[in-house]
Amino acid sequence: MSALLQMDNAGMKRGIVIKDDWPGYSLDLFTYPEHYHDDIESVYIPHGVIMNRTERLAHYIMDDFRDDNIMVLCVLKGGYKFCADLVEFIKILGRNSNKYLETRVEFIRLKSYLNDQSTEDLHIIGCRDLSFLRGKSVLIVEAIVDTGKTMKALLKHVETFEPKMVKVAGLLVKRLPNMAESLTDYVGFEIPNRFVVGYALDYNEYFRDLNHICVLSRTGKMKYKI
Ligand code: HPA
Ligand code: MG
Repeated sequence: MSALLQMDNAGMKRGIVIKDDWPGYSLDLFTYPEHYHDDIESVYIPHGVIMNRTERLAHYIMDDFRDDNIMVLCVLKGGYKFCADLVEFIKILGRNSNKYLETRVEFIRLKSYLNDQSTEDLHIIGCRDLSFLRGKSVLIVEAIVDTGKTMKALLKHVETFEPKMVKVAGLLVKRLPNMAESLTDYVGFEIPNRFVVGYALDYNEYFRDLNHICVLSRTGKMKYKI
């Protein structure tokens, strides 16, 4: 069976599960910036699918936060698009259901990747003082959770400021052999352990301007390697 996007029974926790053998869609089927023509191999998750899944996550979040205002903590840089779209959907749903939650968005910047490899060091390079989280219901918004090391370190840091509650929204979660109990409460897609770019995810700062989530080609990997 070659179903692309297969909903698992645990759909909410694991998200939409993309199988190991999913090659992505041929580039001819979509539009994308011409300058990346040789640099990407396939469209792994089209932008429209990302958007609709994000809307669904906004529903789950509205149900869980109920009457609490949401202190959104966006993890830069990769999380900026997902965060902007998610918050927009939360606002639209609020308007349409008379359950308008106030959302405040703050930003934190982390860096742990060089080329397509995770490095040992996690750097929090923006906003270390998160005392504005005290007593708040916090939603951490991250584009991708892979080893979980970054998220674990961030959660530990956030907890020291004694928020009322902390939930994590991750657009992508990588399926790894020794996957720990998921740290992510709202998962967009569970994907195989491969390097993807686009929708604000980068390879050495390139490809953030691609709307779809795509797989790099060998040419792309070489061209932007540092
Ligand atoms: N792509 C881009 N950035 C990342 C990834 C990825 O697959 N995993 C962790 N950071
Ligand atoms: Mg990066």
